[in-house]
Amino acid sequence: MDYTVPYMKRLTNKHIVLGVTGSIAAYKSADLVRKLKTAGAEVHVIMTKGATEFITPLTMQAVSGNEVHQSLLDEKAEAGMGHIQLARWADLVLIAPASADCLSRLVLGRGDDLLGAVCLASTSPLAVAPAMNQAMWKDPATQENVAKLKTRGIHILGPAEGEQACGDTGPGRMLEPDDLVTEVEGLFESGILSGVKVMVTAGPTQEDIDPVRFISNRSSGKMGYALAQAAVEAGAEVILVSGPTSLPIPDRTRRIDIRSAREMHDAVHAEIKDIDIFIGAAAVADYRPIEAEAGKIKKDSDTLTLQMTKTEDILASVAGLKDRPYMVGFAAETDNLEANALKKLNAKQLDMIAANRVGEDPTGGTLGFESDENALSVFWQDGNKELSRMPKSQLARILVELIARRYKSEHNIIRPESFG
Ligand code: PMT
Repeated sequence: MDYTVPYMKRLTNKHIVLGVTGSIAAYKSADLVRKLKTAGAEVHVIMTKGATEFITPLTMQAVSGNEVHQSLLDEKAEAGMGHIQLARWADLVLIAPASADCLSRLVLGRGDDLLGAVCLASTSPLAVAPAMNQAMWKDPATQENVAKLKTRGIHILGPAEGEQACGDTGPGRMLEPDDLVTEVEGLFESGILSGVKVMVTAGPTQEDIDPVRFISNRSSGKMGYALAQAAVEAGAEVILVSGPTSLPIPDRTRRIDIRSAREMHDAVHAEIKDIDIFIGAAAVADYRPIEAEAGKIKKDSDTLTLQMTKTEDILASVAGLKDRPYMVGFAAETDNLEANALKKLNAKQLDMIAANRVGEDPTGGTLGFESDENALSVFWQDGNKELSRMPKSQLARILVELIARRYKSEHNIIRPESFG
């Protein structure tokens, strides 16, 4: 294990849209942004008109490092990160402070300002941290609104009790930024895999040609690391067997560093005994040079021929074990995605396969490899599910939930619910 690599923080890779509404507690939102960022999150701030009476957009821009979003009808902003893009980008929409007016607007589903429109357009969790005078909080209208929001699955964080800016004492204070960060961290934890041991492989392998050269591929490790993080958040104990990447170790994950396919094979088999779920997201080299040269190959001839041999098939070797874990493989395909994925599902005797299109993205950049986003077609023996393009962190959470449900249904722990 390489202890020089920093651990990922609890909110690493999390995209948070922070809505700030008109309340005196808005002055604490700057500190909240700072603390969310310290915990690893990336934050985009939306301010309502009322919020700008209490704290300036410039302050929020300075602490978030991103331009503050204020208007739904701003051509320039919509051309940059418009409201639909913001809604899609968010792993969580957090409104802190959420005024009494904001709560009632959410109940009505108003979409006539940017924050309301993003809340309507986002499919990610929504959490609100109410902040208002204690009498306003206790008012039956507010209480009814809160009850309605709860029935819609909106998370209500706080409020706290105590002395208020207006001189009253009672419930209605916004939770302190530290407490909000803890609450937000908790929102990403599902517990669906608690007590389950998961092994994830990630990143590329490097196959030596000589002491200074190797054959490798473009895997960054992002997909596998996001899966490891998502499995941790689902409560699993996670071992991440990783090829060389520049990524920090996901929080609460045991990482084993390897370079070659052979090293990955050996590391996986050394630790596989108690593993319940195996997820092979690594881009393992299919071939290695038959023998790495002992000395640096000289540039004496115009051409060079390398004799290659097949590497160990790690996935198939684990699937072939007598006491095998629940097996999830990946398929990286440039064409015939479904047919090739199903072929691998059966040939390697997997329980599930997640297929992604790889290569050049017609809209620019690369698909699958290196990119921050991905899309997956997931297949298992009697079902399939399409996961559309989204950030790898979000995709990983959905895939881990799907794996957990299939795993548990096959072990008669729960029914697969809507995923079947
Ligand atoms: O790392 P990123 O930049 O985020 O990119 C993510 C990814 C594209 C690498 C990832 O989403 C992915 O598709 N990983 C699998 C890549 C791959 O090697 O696919 P494959 O179709 O060649 O292999 C099929 C499966 O067999 C994979 O689960 C692979 O881990 C496994 N395999 C392959 C060869 C081998 N010798 N041993 C294996 O276990």
